[in-house]
Amino acid sequence: MLDPKKLKGKDFLSLLDFSREEITYIIEGGLALKRLYYQGNRSSDVLRDKVLFLIFQKPSTRTRLSFEIAMRELGGFALYASWNELQLGRGEAISDTARVLSRYGDGIVARVYEHKVVEELSKYAEIPVINGLSDLEHPVQALSDLMTVEEIFGRVDGLTIAFVGDGKDNVLNSLMIASLKLGANFHVAAPKELSPDEKYTKEANAIANEMKLDFLITEDPAEAVRGADVIYTDTWVSMGKEAEAEYRKQILSPYQVDRKLFSMASRKAIFMHCLPAHKGEEVSEDVFESERSVVWQQAENKLHLQKSLLTSLI
Ligand code: CP
Ligand code: NVA
Repeated sequence: MLDPKKLKGKDFLSLLDFSREEITYIIEGGLALKRLYYQGNRSSDVLRDKVLFLIFQKPSTRTRLSFEIAMRELGGFALYASWNELQLGRGEAISDTARVLSRYGDGIVARVYEHKVVEELSKYAEIPVINGLSDLEHPVQALSDLMTVEEIFGRVDGLTIAFVGDGKDNVLNSLMIASLKLGANFHVAAPKELSPDEKYTKEANAIANEMKLDFLITEDPAEAVRGADVIYTDTWVSMGKEAEAEYRKQILSPYQVDRKLFSMASRKAIFMHCLPAHKGEEVSEDVFESERSVVWQQAENKLHLQKSLLTSLI
């Protein structure tokens, strides 16, 4: 049994740093808070007067707004500032900013281009730093998505999750590590030019070997989705990759999750996407809008999962 105190003050940068027990604890917390929410208990004062900073280098709809609402419903409040509104935009050191924010508040969510920026923040901040998306990971997204999988199937272990598309995707890295840690088989279909990150693949292989799970990387989308319970995709052009947009769309075009590909999955399979989606690119409109698509439930669960994460760390 996990001692919840172990999570207090911890940074949340990468799912490589979290154990199966810690991940389960945060997800179970999200499910419990969601139940309370629907019983009419939206708000509490667990984080009364606590302050969360949101400092973002990139746009955000879901992550930003759900963290803001989460803090409000926990009795605290959030302050959002885009990177360029802060002196960071004029070159103030990340290390100095981290030490200043530590004197004003209780947590930082940062959305950045380079993962090393969240690492630098966490090195100097005396308060928890949460990765709200970097080029390498989107750990908050992966946990709220696995909360959704657990809600729908009643478990994560023993299922097969297939990701189809950009093998360099940040959500993929987080989802692959967390899914395997929770006992799911994991398949990736990506073109060889965009094959998954070596470090994450190595870690994923090690977890899969230890837990006797099936971890597959293939260039063939049909092979990856055959019999799978979850079909997941994300944009072909992540934020920061706009210069490669035409090239990516060309090599990823055989990887669209369309009705034909989706029909090769398990009969009860669900379609997942972290959003924003580009219908007609990584997913066809009919699959996105189908009854098997759970994208709105995913978006909703970010709120509940993040409330659980905040109360665990702060
Ligand atoms: N899924 C997600 O992180 O969405 P936003 O970019 O809108 O925050
Ligand atoms: N991979 C996408 C996720 C957006 C939430 C991106 O980084 O743009």
